[in-house]
Formats: sequence, structure tokens, C-alpha cells
Amino acid sequence: MSKEIVLSGIRATGNLHLGNYFGALSKFVRMQGDYDSMFFIADLHALTTATDPDLLHANVKNIIAEYLAAGLDPEKATIFVQSDVPEISEMYLLLNMHVGIGELMRTASFKDKARKQLGIKSEGDDIEKEIIGNDSNKRVSAGLLTYPTLMAVDILIQKANKVPVGKDQEQHLELTRRFARRFNSFYGVDLFPEPTNFDFGGAPVKVPGLDGSGKMGKSEGNCIYLIDDEKTLRKKVMRAVTDEGPKTPNQPVSQPVENLFTLLQLTSAPEIVQQYRDAYADCSIRYGDLKKQLAEDILKITLPIRERILDLRNDDATIARIVKQGAEKARERAAKTLAEVRHIMGIRPFA
Ligand code: TRP
Repeated sequence: MSKEIVLSGIRATGNLHLGNYFGALSKFVRMQGDYDSMFFIADLHALTTATDPDLLHANVKNIIAEYLAAGLDPEKATIFVQSDVPEISEMYLLLNMHVGIGELMRTASFKDKARKQLGIKSEGDDIEKEIIGNDSNKRVSAGLLTYPTLMAVDILIQKANKVPVGKDQEQHLELTRRFARRFNSFYGVDLFPEPTNFDFGGAPVKVPGLDGSGKMGKSEGNCIYLIDDEKTLRKKVMRAVTDEGPKTPNQPVSQPVENLFTLLQLTSAPEIVQQYRDAYADCSIRYGDLKKQLAEDILKITLPIRERILDLRNDDATIARIVKQGAEKARERAAKTLAEVRHIMGIRPFA
């Protein structure tokens, strides 16, 4: 029996941080040998919001280097750039014929981004009216609206079964299933499998940021990046938000301090985590020591990755070779699916 197809993509914006690493990348690395795995850089999706062409190109290269540096292996997984597979763009046009603008406009991610672009603050405001109104300074692109169609095509063109993505992508995956069902039933075919989210069997990891609040995230400004140098990283960790320390034995742990424990748990040995938990419980803990330990253990993971990222960034030939090989593999399956879709929809040769 052939292996199940696992596929996931990441938008080419900025550098990868510890949240990306523990939430996605390290899991991709663990699963790459067990499935028919495909991991790609979604540069066309980045175009829905990115504007600077040089920056986009640099970001694509960056993320490839970061994927490889973190342990993705082109011999085990297909690693490719979305725009290197032109079949995706053609099928995006075809699938759009079966997608309603209403369902796209109701998508949460579209509403969020459109609201931002239009400068609308409140959730209640009527964005449809703003969108179809004709203020020439404000424009929401058709590309942003059809983001879910493009994502569905990424998945369906490879006939992927399992799509490891975070919670924020669940709605896009639901639309993908709906489009697959709709296509199959409209044409009376059984072409597309319905893909499901894939959390690798383990509990989902939530990687907290350093600012005492919630999740680590680029827009939050609370990130540790894989590319951070030693000095930057230590400084960030030493400045992480804490509290004034436990006053009574076994007192409940505040959110900012719990966040540091969570990070320590992800990066340190269990005995070390226990040692600091015990020190908290008997009020002997010194946050400075905890942070030094944490920085040390994070560096053990990130510094070797950083070295490899820097090497790869200077090695255009290797990057070019890997994405070429990935594109060939990705195009093979994509071309087959596209030919089926064209035929099913009635786009057929005469000869
Ligand atoms: N939309 C995804 C994100 O922002 C990236 C993405 C694009 C993707 N196409 C995909 C993820 C296909 C999984 C499968 O994170």
C-alpha cells in the first residue's frame, strides 16, 4: 500500500521562531520518513499581503534555509516552492469557478485582513459596504479574497490526506473539504479525498512568548527566532516578564512565570524543570538563575540551527538544486491531477 500523503505549507513572511519550530517544524522532521511528505513555501500566498519584491524573494530563500537547517531532508520529503508548480495557478483558476464570493467573504481570516487594510477598527462594522464602495485609496484585492481557493488547490492538486496546520487554519481546511465534496458531486466523480488536520497524535504545543501574555507570534513582538545570535537571545530571555517571586510555599504560579516553565519544559531535561518547580514551591527560586538556565538550553537547540541557516544562505547552488528536485516531484503529481480536472470540466483536446 502506498503511504498517506502529508502536506503543509508556510507563508513566506519573515523568519521562523521557536513557536514555528516546536509547533510545526520539529514535528515535520519527525514525520517526514513515515509519510509521503510534502512541505512547501507558499510564496503566492505571501503575495496577498507582501509588497516588496526583493523582500519576498529573500524570505523564500530564508525559509528554505530554515526548513533544511531544522532538519527537513530533501531525500525524505518533497520540499518545494509553490510558484515553481504552475499547475497550481491553472487549477486555481478552474476551481474558482465553483467557489462562491459569499463564502469567501465570510471567512474569518479574510474579514480580519480586509478590516486591517480598510482601517476598520470595530468587528461590527459592515466591511462589505466598504469593499464595494468606491474609495480609490482603499482596495481589498481579489487575491486576498480567493486565498482559500489557492490553499485548497495546494492540498487537492496533490490529493493530500493529512494537513498538519494550526488552529487558525482550521476554517481554510473546512473550506477545502467543502470544495472537494462540491467538485466531486457536481461532476459525479470521486477525484478528491477530503483532507483532515493532523496533530501527529500528540497534544498540541502552545509555545508562549516572553512578554508574559499568550502565544509566541511575529506580530506580538515576543519571539525568539532561530536566527537570533547568542547575545540577542540571552538578552531577550533575561528581559522576559516575571513577577516579584513567591512569598508563601506552594503559592499558585502567575502566567508570566508559568510561561517560562513551559519554555523550560520544551527545551530542558525533566530533572531540571523539576528542580526549578521545587525551588518555586519552597520560595528559594531566583528568576535570574531560571532565565540563565533557559537561555542556555534554548541556545543548545537554536545555535546549531543558526549555524546551518547561515551556511545555507551562502550556498545558492544547494538551495537551487533542492528546490528544483522538489518542484519536479511536486509537478509530477500536480500535472496528473490537473489533466484529470481539465478533462472532467470539459477542457479537452480535439485530436
Ligand atoms: N495558509 C497557511 C498559513 O498561513 C499556509 C498554507 C498555504 C498552507 N497553503 C497551504 C498550509 C496548504 C497547509 C496546506 O499558515
